[in-house]
Amino acid sequence: MVLVNDNYLKLPESYLFSDIKKKVNAYKERHPEARIISLGIGDVTRPIVPAIVGAMHAAVDEMGNADTFRGYGPEQGYDFLRERIIAHDFFSRGVELDADEIFVGDGAKSDLGNFGDILSVKCRIAVTDPVYPVYVDTNVMGGRAGELSDDGKHWSRIIYLPCTAENQFVPELPTERPDVIYLCYPNNPTGTTLSRIELQKWVDYARENESLILFDAAYEAFIHDDNIPHSIYEMEGAKEVAIEFRSFSKTAGFTGLRCGYTVVPKVLKLYDSSGKKIQANPLWNRRQTTKFNGTSYIVQRAAEAAYSLLGDKQIKESIEYYMRNARLLKESLENIGLKIFGGDNAPYIWVKTPNGLSSWKFFDRLLHECHIVGTPGVGFGPSGEGYFRLTAFGRYEDTIEAISRIQHWKL
Ligand code: MLT
Repeated sequence: MVLVNDNYLKLPESYLFSDIKKKVNAYKERHPEARIISLGIGDVTRPIVPAIVGAMHAAVDEMGNADTFRGYGPEQGYDFLRERIIAHDFFSRGVELDADEIFVGDGAKSDLGNFGDILSVKCRIAVTDPVYPVYVDTNVMGGRAGELSDDGKHWSRIIYLPCTAENQFVPELPTERPDVIYLCYPNNPTGTTLSRIELQKWVDYARENESLILFDAAYEAFIHDDNIPHSIYEMEGAKEVAIEFRSFSKTAGFTGLRCGYTVVPKVLKLYDSSGKKIQANPLWNRRQTTKFNGTSYIVQRAAEAAYSLLGDKQIKESIEYYMRNARLLKESLENIGLKIFGGDNAPYIWVKTPNGLSSWKFFDRLLHECHIVGTPGVGFGPSGEGYFRLTAFGRYEDTIEAISRIQHWKL
């Protein structure tokens, strides 16, 4: 008899975005004539920029030449990329890191999910609510979430930190001490941000309470406002308590190419069960070298090109394209009386559903009556009920068309 990991059986049947895809496909089958606009999953629509495509072509040629061919690369990533990351993403913001604190991977989702491998099953987890479902689901898989409540809303061992219009989407410090705190800023799904002062509070809390912050900065490239930190390491003392996850997916259109990286500072220490301090960096290195053979050379050359002068200019144009969508969505939906949050420093718009409609009811009506797909806020957690997420990653023409359909909609 082969036993499965029972924790998987506790999970809802499918992942949020798979659920939505199923619903939309079923609708399409019944209404093949409908021209559906997807502003649901945060997937990019702009092609990879020419500077990056050029770098990939060159890397492909190298792989086809006996003198320049490369087999397995370093599991942690090539130095040419790690050095660019350090100089461009951190040193330029006054943060010093060593190359061996950077681990290049195939995207933030995998690293965020896999990081649980080095944490005890006993760790108590805190998440902001609503939240990117990967944090919760991977902790369910790892046995850290406890049991799901009868109403299917809360996991018994997870500490939820509500973020709603009532607290301006700024989570309050927990009243019960978590071991691990997931923070994502700019936030997915609400599109809101934390100021330097607010983020410093979290770092101070983690230092005082010996908690670990897992900081997802996948959307930092969308920040316009100078008062908003791009990296948690801009905060004093953060290296002792925070791991940061970054992604090229939204920044440079790599959702299909796959590349991201994780920063594990060498000063960051956790504990073993006897109370001895343990450096997190070698543990993560051990995990990666055992279970991961590195991101492909071609993709790492592509990521490197995102830091070149031309690559940087071109990807900024794509980011500006998406942020124009965000501004248009925000302004026009506000003009028809909807209450909108986010969208200023993030590619997500968080809509308060009108007339007390539930998130799923709003989803169904928007799909059936306007042929637009978004993401029900409650899919991100109980405090997301009554909210709805739209992404700015659509094509400009589709975004304009979606806005016009919503403006003519009898809600
Ligand atoms: C989202 O829509 O929340 C994101 O695209 C999901 C992801 O980045 O995995």
